[in-house]
Amino acid sequence: MEVSAKKRILSGIQPTGTFTLGNYIGAVRNWGLLQQEYECLYMVANMHAITVRQTPADLRRQTREAAALLLACGIDPQKSILFVQSHVPAHAELAWVLACNTQFGELSRMTQFKDKSARHADNVNAGLFTYPVLMAADILVYNADLVPVGADQKQHLELARNIAVRFNNAYSDTFTVPDPYIPKTGARIMSLQEPEKKMSKSDTNANSFILMLDDPDTIRRKCKRAVTDSEGVVRADESKPGVTNLMSIYSVFTGKDFASIESEFTGKGYGDFKLAVAESVISVFHPIQQEYQRILEDKTYLDDVLKDGAQRAAHIAAKTCAKVYKKVGFLQL
Ligand code: TYM
Repeated sequence: MEVSAKKRILSGIQPTGTFTLGNYIGAVRNWGLLQQEYECLYMVANMHAITVRQTPADLRRQTREAAALLLACGIDPQKSILFVQSHVPAHAELAWVLACNTQFGELSRMTQFKDKSARHADNVNAGLFTYPVLMAADILVYNADLVPVGADQKQHLELARNIAVRFNNAYSDTFTVPDPYIPKTGARIMSLQEPEKKMSKSDTNANSFILMLDDPDTIRRKCKRAVTDSEGVVRADESKPGVTNLMSIYSVFTGKDFASIESEFTGKGYGDFKLAVAESVISVFHPIQQEYQRILEDKTYLDDVLKDGAQRAAHIAAKTCAKVYKKVGFLQL
């Protein structure tokens, strides 16, 4: 990889199923947009995925599918490095060193750990607990300046920053302290059924989320069934989480701000509004779906992209890891 003056970005997504509308708006859409200005590394986080029990064959297939969907969303392997986390050993190597510089108390405070351990009470494994350390390693091993994520990852990002600062103070300046990049609109897309809750693909109610590969009729149906309120007026307000959530989605996909959306639907009911939201989603997702099918069929191309990505990522990551090993006093022969 050439030396570049551009700032560096790293982000990741778990291959635990088709991405949701929330994943797209909160993260992946921005990954594509940021490629022009930054040197970007984007990763399919398959190592994070096994903190919850996965069927091996499904995980393998979904890892390829996730990579194909990222390419279809506009991640350009000529501009960015796209790779699979387990293909770069330095992530796990650095994670151990960072784990020895992370406090039990810090990890105990992570809300995602508390949520997930409650949801998977039969499998509260050590990986689920140390998950944020691996995530810190993902970021710090590339000395990323910026990490584009949705709001739910903010706490993990703060921990990564704290670990970086602590390591730098203990062993001299080593890591770039990363900044989160959280979009102003759509950082937290909410469930269509319970708009007080984050939209999540692990929700048991399939009507609560839109998947990027949902067909147009499914998207229309899910939007139509979205929970709103009895006021019947399209306006953004804390007391109207359902309508406000749909307005955020519509705003991101049409580029219109809340004021112009409110005036567009003055005097119209929620029916018209929901239909417009659905059509705006379909107009963005439909071409991505076609591109996804095309890429998925070309396994050689896809695997070549991932091999090349892994090689380029590993080159950067190995250098950081070697430096860290030296600093902590691991014998070099
Ligand atoms: P994951 O796979 O849960 O989600 C991927 C990205 O999608 C964002 N997101 C949302 N944004 C807005 N509204 C929602 N409802 C919504 N749901 C998900 C997430 O914030 C995330 O940005 N731990 C990470 C993956 C990861 C990572 C990393 C990210 C591993 N290593 C290093 C950044 C840097 C995760 O589980 O994301």
